[in-house]
Order: sequence, then structure tokens, then C-alpha cells
Amino acid sequence: MYKKALFLVIAISLFLTKARADEGMWIPMLLKKYNIEEMQRLGFKLTAEDIYSVNRACLKDAVVIFGRGCTGELISDQGLVITNHHCGYGQIQYHSSVKHDYLTNGFWAMSQEEELVNPGLTVTFLKRMEDVTTQVLEGVTDQMSLKERDSVIVKNMTAIKKAAIKDTHYKAVLKPFFHNNQYFLFVNEVFKDVRLVGAPPSAIGKFGGDTDNWMWPRHTGDFSLFRIYADKENQPAEYSKDNVPYKPAMHFPVSLKGVKEGDFTMVFGYPGSTYEYVPSYHLEMLTETINPKLIDVRTEKLRIMNRYQEADAKVRIQYAAKNARVSNSWKRWIGENKGLAKLNAINKKKAFEQSFQQWVEVNNDLNKKYGDLLADYKKLYQEYTTYRLAGDYTSELIYRNGIEIAKLAGSFDALAELYKAETKDEKAIAKLKETLSKAAKLYFKDYHLPLDKEMTAMLLDRYRQNVPADFHPNIYQTIDKKYKGNTEKYVDAVFKKSNFINQQQLEALINNFNEKQIKILEKDPAFLLFMSFKELYKTTIYKQLKSFNQQLAELNRLYMAAQMKFEKDKVFYPDANFTLRVSYGQVKGYKARDGVFYDNVTTLEGIIEKDNPDIYDYRVPEKLKELYKKKDFGRYEVNGSVPVCFVATNHTTGGNSGSPVLNAEGHLIGVNFDRAWEGVMSDLMYNPEQCRNISLDIRYVLFLIDKFAGAGYLLDEMTVVE
Ligand code: ARG
Ligand code: GLU
Repeated sequence: MYKKALFLVIAISLFLTKARADEGMWIPMLLKKYNIEEMQRLGFKLTAEDIYSVNRACLKDAVVIFGRGCTGELISDQGLVITNHHCGYGQIQYHSSVKHDYLTNGFWAMSQEEELVNPGLTVTFLKRMEDVTTQVLEGVTDQMSLKERDSVIVKNMTAIKKAAIKDTHYKAVLKPFFHNNQYFLFVNEVFKDVRLVGAPPSAIGKFGGDTDNWMWPRHTGDFSLFRIYADKENQPAEYSKDNVPYKPAMHFPVSLKGVKEGDFTMVFGYPGSTYEYVPSYHLEMLTETINPKLIDVRTEKLRIMNRYQEADAKVRIQYAAKNARVSNSWKRWIGENKGLAKLNAINKKKAFEQSFQQWVEVNNDLNKKYGDLLADYKKLYQEYTTYRLAGDYTSELIYRNGIEIAKLAGSFDALAELYKAETKDEKAIAKLKETLSKAAKLYFKDYHLPLDKEMTAMLLDRYRQNVPADFHPNIYQTIDKKYKGNTEKYVDAVFKKSNFINQQQLEALINNFNEKQIKILEKDPAFLLFMSFKELYKTTIYKQLKSFNQQLAELNRLYMAAQMKFEKDKVFYPDANFTLRVSYGQVKGYKARDGVFYDNVTTLEGIIEKDNPDIYDYRVPEKLKELYKKKDFGRYEVNGSVPVCFVATNHTTGGNSGSPVLNAEGHLIGVNFDRAWEGVMSDLMYNPEQCRNISLDIRYVLFLIDKFAGAGYLLDEMTVVE
């Protein structure tokens, strides 16, 4: 009796205190239905309408898609936007020159006149969203073939989008959710005049570099500032000097109150993609084949890059961004494999599949619909895996920071095509020549031939060893016949004979390009190398991959619907698809591994501890060291230091970079920029013990703007909550 009563009391109190929701990326429009009570139990003080409403200004009006793959947020009533340094990197680099090296020294506009214009950069606001599933599926029947089904859906989608933005300047986006079981329409407003306001030096904005990337404890000041401009009516407009700062419907107050263990946090942004509902076969494919092979080839890429970069300061700068790109996913894949293994993820999925199958088989209707699903998956993944490997590996060679000379040569294919066309489009030719010539200039600015040569030989050999012979393009026959299988000899010849090894030669080729030059191009060994992989991709890999992907999409649609029936009391969140989502959780340290427990915050102390002039990633700017020495921390001081970053249990992924991190009052306490390495498998399976998002503490941002940059005038336009 007594025992039972005690158990009940414990159970109830566990339930109350364990009101914990870390996993999930939720749809803002549906918070009211599924989440708000739990959020409030965790401490959140606002309502669902405060976050998302179509009838009045709300938090969503202060969140934007920054550029094409990041999130940003409004922090003043004059269009001031904060995002990550790594999200504004392209713009900071664009404005940098030897004379004005903003990457190295930082940039701070001391007035609005000094802000820098960024051609092509946009920010996108969500005006409203709507569940349009019924309309999208109108006319669709179970008897239809997949092709018929698709064509009805596409037709419906086009009509819905068109009607949604009729007579407005808005843009419509319509996306499938839950693997084509549900559809949402998004009506967006895009602003095109977005100017650079400020960025810290890379030694702060990228502090720790790739050494610390994906890692906690972290000390990166990963932010940059921009301003949205509009026309006099506050409407989006192309750049004009007459444009004025945009007046947003909402901006986030910035809180100096800080965070402590257990505090409610919410991330409001645009997570890119996750794969939470895939079968165990998908995890097997990634952990046993795709990830190990790609990790291996990138380990080699990085080994070559690092060696050349360490030997030559010029090469270090030339290959900094390339190295970072290669390293970022490489490190994430390693973490993903470790995390999935530690979680025993494949066995967990298999156990789930077993009980799923049992549930299916006792019911005739279910059995008819879903009985073969898992077997079909199994069969499909067996074939799909090889094609996926060949496709990914090909990209590693000719697209994703692979053989640079081949990619450059390949970009001339489009020019040849224009010349071969029946009616020659002189205008298009002139334009493409200009584009190619510009690209060539940028290419050679950051090009080191000996590195590329070594990379080429390594990549060709690795490809041959790791990808089945059916997928070896004909260039390997050339290597075998003409060079007796000696890749290095072949590579020597490519780099001796190609027109793509020096800028003048290439300039001449572009300027004199005509029908005759097509022959030269088509004989160029770098071009031939590129085309042999591209041909193989087109004829053998792509067609199959496309068909597999269609089959997978159909299985995913059925499996998703079936899982939702199987676990009918569970509230499901849809996989990330770069639409606006809310994640919520708590500030929380974590146990990283045996004997190691990590605190939830880092401070300026840690930056000083890491300081090392001999290690590029850890060079702390003098000015910051001075502020530290003088303890000149102003109102950002906490216990004799300044907070820098913190971790929490919000479920995030790529695309969430730059997302606002809010406290219980809906005030900005941080800017999301990364995840901790032990938890990056959260794209496939979330583990509340280990998954943490990493945020920049907003007080470090304000400290840097105010004390480090002396741009305190920017604080005047913010709403600072003390
Ligand atoms: N890991 C973060 C994100 O996935 C930061 C990336 C910045 N790039 C880097 N290589 N450090 O995108
Ligand atoms: N740095 C990532 C981004 O650029 C966010 C980190 C993550 O994958 O969670 O979006």
C-alpha cells in the first residue's frame, strides 16, 4: 500500500518536473494545439498568438531567412538585423580587399552612410502560412498511378500559389510536410536592399576556427550585423540611395538578464533538413557506407590542404574558405556516426520496426497497405546505396572542392553549347564570356596548382578504389592504356597541356572563343576529365538515382502515414524542410563522455585561456586582451567576466544558424550558431542527454559592439532590457 502510494507521488512529481520537451521542430501555426501548454509549464510566459498570428504583430515578424540558407532577426525598429558571422561571411569577404581587409580587421559602419551595399543579398519575411492539404490533394485518388498523382498535385500547387499572391508583391512557397502527407503554403515578402553594418574580426567571429567547430566548450563571437532598407512607403525595393531603413512590425528586445541552468529557451528559425522517420536501412547505409567513404576522402583532402597551407602563408589564406567547407561536413559526419553508434540507433530502429510489423500483420487492411513496406525498403536500399555512393563520390571529385581544374574547365561546356546552337544568341554569349572571365579571375586569385595536382591524383585513385567498376568513367581507360595505369603520369600530362592552368592563357581562350576554339576546348585534358565524369553521371548514375528517389519518396509517404497510425497518441513533428519552426528546451550542461561533464556557459576567461599566438585559430586580438586586463566590461560583466556562449537542449540543424534564441519573456538572449559534436546525430535521432545547440550570449555581442568596436551608437536603437 504504502509503497504503491509513494510510487504514485513520485510518478506525479516526475511528470510535473519532467515536463521536458527538447526534441522537435514545431510548426508555429500549430503551437496552440500541441505545444503551448508544455512550453508554459517549462516557464514560457507568452501565448501562442504572441509567437504566431496573422491578425497582429507577433514574434514571427521579427524573424527572417537571411540570404539563402541562414536565419536572422530584427533587433531594432530601424531594420537592424543580426545573424552569424559565418552567414555574413560572403558579404564581408566581398567588401574586403588588401586595403580594407574586413575579414581580418572587422568592419563597423559609424553611421548609416557608411553601411555597405550587397548586390544579390535578400532577407525574407513570412507574412502568413496555411494548411492547404485538402486543396493540393483535390482530385487525387488511391487508384491513380504515381505519375498521374504527381501531375494532379503539381497542377493544384501551381494554382494555389498563383491565387495566394494575386495582385501583391509577395512570393508564394508551397512545401510538403510529413513526406507528402500534408502541405503548407507560405506567403513571403522579400527585401532586396540589405546593407552590411558591422562584423567583428575573424579572430573573434571565427575564433577557434575548424579546431573548435561543432565543439563545446566554445568561444566563437559568431555574429554580423545588417540593415534592411525599404522605399519611402516601407515596401521592398531594389537598392537606391533614396531608400530608408525598414520599419518592421516587430523587433526583439535584447535582454541583459542572461541564462542559468534550467531556464526556458526557444529557437525560432529555419532548420534545413532532418531524417527522423527513416527506416533502419537508411541508418545502415549512412553509417556503414556513405559516411565512412566520404569521411575517408575528405580526410585525404584536408591532409593535402593542411600541408600546403601550413607551408605557405599565402596558400593558407587562399584555401581558408575551401578548407572550412570541406572540414564542416567531414567533422559532422564523424560525429554523426559516433553519436548513432553510442545511441545504438540502428537496433532501436530495428526494434521499432519489429513491433510495427507485428501491429501491421494482425490487421487485414493494414497488412494489405503496409505489409510489404519494410521489405520493399530493404530491397531498395540494397541497390540505392551503391548509386548514392557513386553519385556522392562523383560530386566529391568534380564539384565539392575536388579537382579544381576540372570544375573550371567544365564550366566552359555551356559556352560551347551556345556556339553549337542553331541560332547563335550573341547576347547570351557575350554575357557568359563576361561571367566566365570574372569567375576565372576569382578562381586564380585563390588557386595553388601544386595542391590541385596532388589532389587530382589522390582523388582519381580513391575513386577507383572505393567506387565499383561499373561506375568508372572512360578516363580510367585512358589512364590504363596511355599511362599504363600510372595516375601521376596522367595528371602530369593534364597539368602540362591544359589551357586552364594559367589566367592569361585562359583569358585569351575566352576572348578569342569561336567555333574553332570548341575543338581546342574539347581536346583539353582538364575538360575531358570533367566531361568523362559528367557523362557517366548523366547516363548511368543520375537516371537511376532519380528513379530510386521517387520510389523512396513513395515508400516514405506510406511509412510516415503508417507510423502516425501506429503511434496514434504521439504528437509528431515534421522533418525540417527549411520552413519556419519553433524548438524549445532548457539551458543545460551535459555529460560528454565518461568522466567529463560540461558546464552550460563559457566566458571571456576561456578565450584568454585558449589564447596562443602560435596557433592561427587561437590568436586573440590585442584590443580584446586589453579590455580583459583592465576588466573594462561595463554592464556586461558577470562574476568578474563576460559570458560568451551557452548550450541548451533546443533541437536545431543546419539553417538554424543565426536564429534568435529567446527567453521565457520572448526577449533575445542569444544567437544560435552550432551544435555540440556529441549530439549531431540529432538530424536522424535525438538524444536528450547529449544533444545541445550552441548559442552566442547576446551580452558578448553587446560588449563587443560597445567596448571593442566603439559602435555603441547601435545600442541606442535597440530595446535593451536590464
Ligand atoms: N558548424 C557550423 C555550421 O554547421 C558552423 C560552420 C562554420 N564553418 C566552419 N567550417 N567553421 O554550419
Ligand atoms: N552552423 C549551422 C548552420 O549554418 C548550424 C549548426 C547545426 O547544424 O545545427 O546552419
